[in-house]
Amino acid sequence: MAILPIIQPDNPILRKKALRVSSFGPELQTLIDNMVETMIAAPGVGLAAPQVAVSLRLIVVRLPDDEESQKEYGEEAGKLYVVANPKIIKASKEMVEGVEGCLSIPGWLGSVMRHEQVVITGQDRHGKDIRIKAKGWLARVFQHEIDHLDGRLYTDIAEEVWRQGASTEDDAVDPETTPSDAGQA
Ligand code: CO
Repeated sequence: MAILPIIQPDNPILRKKALRVSSFGPELQTLIDNMVETMIAAPGVGLAAPQVAVSLRLIVVRLPDDEESQKEYGEEAGKLYVVANPKIIKASKEMVEGVEGCLSIPGWLGSVMRHEQVVITGQDRHGKDIRIKAKGWLARVFQHEIDHLDGRLYTDIAEEVWRQGASTEDDAVDPETTPSDAGQA
């Protein structure tokens, strides 16, 4: 396994519409393992293949599994999701504001409106059809990652962005909607 370099917005791959995954062979398995390792090492809560310069519709997501997360997210804390060709087939009308960061835009955070709940279809790492129901922070991370596959960054839709650790941050952040460590994705 290997930790892959994460590209930044000056690289046009991040702005491209990624291609569908059609082959689930050893090459894809290696890419998935490397993406998981890269996400965990970053550390981040999600990673999309275009962020490691591979223009494929593939994402990995994993919320932290510390005690606090387990209390808040139950079984979803620490659970690894690998989804090829993810597609949001249902989204709640309810929108929630929350804080996001992106591993491709280090040092910045933003406030973004997302659907509170989404249902996602796609394939697992072996090409088997899967369906995931996600809410709250997990739903937010999925929406952030799926945006990456269409060349969209959270800064395109954020109500506000600010430097991480900036003095205005405390005013901008609503603790009700802010994950404990505003995980990077
Ligand atoms: Co991101």
